[in-house]
Amino acid sequence: MLSKTVSLVTGAGSGIGKKVAQLFAAQGSRVCGVDVKSFDSSCEHSFVSDIGQRQSVVKLADEIFSRTQSYPTIIVNAAGITKDSLLLKMREEDFDDVIRVNLKGTFLINQIFSQRLLAENPTDLKASIINISSIVAKYGNVGQCNYTASKAGVEAMTKSMAKELGRAGIRVNAILPGFIQTPMTDKIPDKVKQKLLSNIALGRMGSPDEIAQVCLFLASNSMSSYVNGASIDVTGGL
Ligand code: CAA
Repeated sequence: MLSKTVSLVTGAGSGIGKKVAQLFAAQGSRVCGVDVKSFDSSCEHSFVSDIGQRQSVVKLADEIFSRTQSYPTIIVNAAGITKDSLLLKMREEDFDDVIRVNLKGTFLINQIFSQRLLAENPTDLKASIINISSIVAKYGNVGQCNYTASKAGVEAMTKSMAKELGRAGIRVNAILPGFIQTPMTDKIPDKVKQKLLSNIALGRMGSPDEIAQVCLFLASNSMSSYVNGASIDVTGGL
């Protein structure tokens, strides 16, 4: 379904990003996977880069171009971190780190890669950017003032980017996953997890593959050509 495409997946080392990279590769995409530390991957190309720093993202774009001779027309921003703490105890650096990686990192990737892509392909572009937000951006979550703010920012930014980039042929959409079985949710204390499960209509956490399949839908121009500026909840009915 994605043959002849080059895609970029951030956070490809684990969790949702890793599964997206595997699925896109299986669908024929030449996947450029990125993570902050080295990782095992099924990606055709893997890169180590801190997406929260402009110079690092500029270098990443240069490296991707020199390896693939093109810029990705599909981008999945799945890189994200948590530094959970109650508001009254939250350290300022834990607020700043989460905003820098989750929100600014998504901004930098989308800005720099869109600039490069548009400079290379000024007409007839069919590109898709998928930003991974979170359902807690809508409802809040105890211990996550920093993370919920970053993910609400990602969702709002998605809508502005969709308005700006649509005319150039780049669709921009957000996915709002609920609680998905990943190393990130493994850290949730058991008693919190039990309470959480009782609020999910399907009675279970989601799998990374169930998010990756929605990414595939949004990445595919034949399946989602008129979907732009959307936020898709994938929560099992939270
Ligand atoms: N509601 C209200 N108050 C709460 C509360 C809750 N759910 N949880 C804790 N508190 C308050 C209570 O006053 C509590 O005292 P009691 O134990 O007497 O009730 C007090 O906080 C102390 O609680 P803890 O001992 O748990 O405090 P802590 O500082 O050790 O940890 C925490 C707090 C960091 C929030 C911890 O409970 C935690 O990690 N919770 C899970 C957070 C979470 O859901 N993270 C999601 C990660 S997955 C993800 O982010 C992906 C995504 O997109 C959804």
